[in-house]
Amino acid sequence: MDPRRNPFAPGAGSRPPELAGREVILEGVAVALDRIRHGRHAQSTILIGLRGVGKTVLLNEMRRAAEGEGIFTVPMEAPEGQSLPNLLVPALRTALLKIDRGQAAMTLAKRGLGALARFVKAFKLSYGELEASLDFGEIGVADNGNLEADLIDLIDVTGAAAAERKTAIVLFIDELQYVPERELAALITALHRARQNERPITMVAAGLPQLAGQMGKAKSYAERLFLFTSIGPLDNAAATSAIVHPIEAEACSIEPEAVIKILEVTRGYPYFLQEWGKQCWEAAERCPITANDVDRAYLAAIAALDDSFFRVRFDRLTPSERHYLRAMADLGEGPYNSTAIAEHLARKPSAFGPVRASLIAKGMIFTPGYGQTAFTVPLFDAFMRRAIPAGLVAQRPKLT
Ligand SMILES: Nc1ncnc2c1ncn2[C@@H]1O[C@H](COP(=O)(O)OP(=O)(O)O)[C@@H](O)[C@H]1O
Ligand SMILES: [Mg+2]
Repeated sequence: MDPRRNPFAPGAGSRPPELAGREVILEGVAVALDRIRHGRHAQSTILIGLRGVGKTVLLNEMRRAAEGEGIFTVPMEAPEGQSLPNLLVPALRTALLKIDRGQAAMTLAKRGLGALARFVKAFKLSYGELEASLDFGEIGVADNGNLEADLIDLIDVTGAAAAERKTAIVLFIDELQYVPERELAALITALHRARQNERPITMVAAGLPQLAGQMGKAKSYAERLFLFTSIGPLDNAAATSAIVHPIEAEACSIEPEAVIKILEVTRGYPYFLQEWGKQCWEAAERCPITANDVDRAYLAAIAALDDSFFRVRFDRLTPSERHYLRAMADLGEGPYNSTAIAEHLARKPSAFGPVRASLIAKGMIFTPGYGQTAFTVPLFDAFMRRAIPAGLVAQRPKLT
């Protein structure tokens, strides 16, 4: 059917035509942020889940809702290999400028910008236009060169600036698992201190499953400060809405048997639902979309997922990492017993310490329980079998 009217939106962070099944989570965060704005106690939320379940989309939606309520928001994505100060400085600068906008007098936001300028100087980061604010800062605030102490100051002055304007400021950080543990600990401490001082500042974040453990290890009280919310595949009712409603909104329809087939192949994972919805629409010649159209879309859907969703992760792997993941895929869907993977490769588990560590750091695998290993990408086992069909024998590399 007409590709111009195809409603589906596969892609990292692409806003779906129907954000299905997440109402309770959205409402919970809206309530918490409103309470924090009014100086009341509330736990902020950390979204935890595999790739492609819709964490980024949820963060964006929460941010839009908060902005609509007049809360100041600061969006950030933690990239691999960049430091937290580098990430925070431009984001906090933008937020403080927004808070200060239209205020002629010496505001707490100006003081915040001053503290930020001193912080930048202490950590030898690049100044940009912040240098002009240096005079607003106070000596000894956020400029000691100790990350934990300085972040405490910085988050505190920023929170105070928001309070002065009778609002809250919320840091929205995606891919938080990439922030190194020491910096994560400093950030949690700073947010905790701000909470004790009843500053209306908090963080809503998202990350892969390993993030929960990383945060607990960084600071044991992280679990009291934040509500860790698992984001998983959609249940049948929500997955059905995610497919049916966008099609109906285009004055078309889809047969129930076709929907059942889509739910089966996608298992309700949001990214897969979008891709299958898109490909079924393209495969169909007319309304309604039938089960036969779903069958005809099969190869195109798998190919599109391989090329976009799976391949980008595969391409970043070294030969020994691929070898290890391919061995996992041999054992089925997982989670896997880590010893069984090593046995399958005819080596001792200790031989795989380094390769496992780098796969965890790259966000490819995580440890769901003691002695266990799982993929962070749903259905990655089947992809690995497609990508390296001959299996281990044909491509056994020297293990590093
Ligand atoms: N609740 C939902 N209902 C339908 N589609 C969704 C939903 N959440 C996310 N999606 C779709 O799933 C895909 C992945 O979303 P994204 O937020 O990038 O996932 P993650 O950040 O967890 O990897 C996008 O194409 C998005 O449109
Ligand atoms: Mg994401």
